[in-house]
Amino acid sequence: MEEIIEKIVLNKDLHAKWLNTLSFMENAGARKISACEDKIATSLIQLKHAAEEHRHAYYLKKQISKLEVTGFDFYKPETLLGGQISQQYLHRLDVLASKYLKSQFSIVGQDLKYAAYLFVTYAIEVRADELYPIYQNILSKHNSKVMVKSIILEEEGHLEEMILQLNEFDKNWKVHSSIVNGIEEVLFRNWMDVISDEIGLHEFAE
Ligand SMILES: [Fe+2]
Ligand SMILES: [Fe+2]
Repeated sequence: MEEIIEKIVLNKDLHAKWLNTLSFMENAGARKISACEDKIATSLIQLKHAAEEHRHAYYLKKQISKLEVTGFDFYKPETLLGGQISQQYLHRLDVLASKYLKSQFSIVGQDLKYAAYLFVTYAIEVRADELYPIYQNILSKHNSKVMVKSIILEEEGHLEEMILQLNEFDKNWKVHSSIVNGIEEVLFRNWMDVISDEIGLHEFAE
């Protein structure tokens, strides 16, 4: 992953696409969180989380202006890395995780939506806590004007908040989160493979 991100950071067009892709994914995540909220029983943690993920999408989009590139006003597929795979990543994770959770907990409707919110978001937060620090190290190494430190801080908070909520949901949540995180791992590796091909790095080694 380091090799892929380093190659991206060293080329401003690829870097702009990467930022736009991360912004797209943060925005998709924020919208998913909002969509999972109950009309009445929405907690402070959920409100905070949705607000911060929306901020990440905005902040990453703003970082693009530091690269002096144009054409990244929107999320057009050609301005993203990984194209369709990036667009579908979160949705596919949500669908697969929901299917698994439905079979395990025999829940439907709003209960299933909430369970999916917990486990999918947890998997994403584990990924974010791995990805953003690696990205920031590469940015610092190359004295880039782009910075994601404020996102790292908030993502760490999110992970702790998800653990709190998961503990309340089910004492055995770790058994299920390891399955959902396994699903995410497959999707993530596939996403990295696609990006690696797209930027001309043919072998993906961790
Ligand atoms: Fe985020
Ligand atoms: Fe987060």
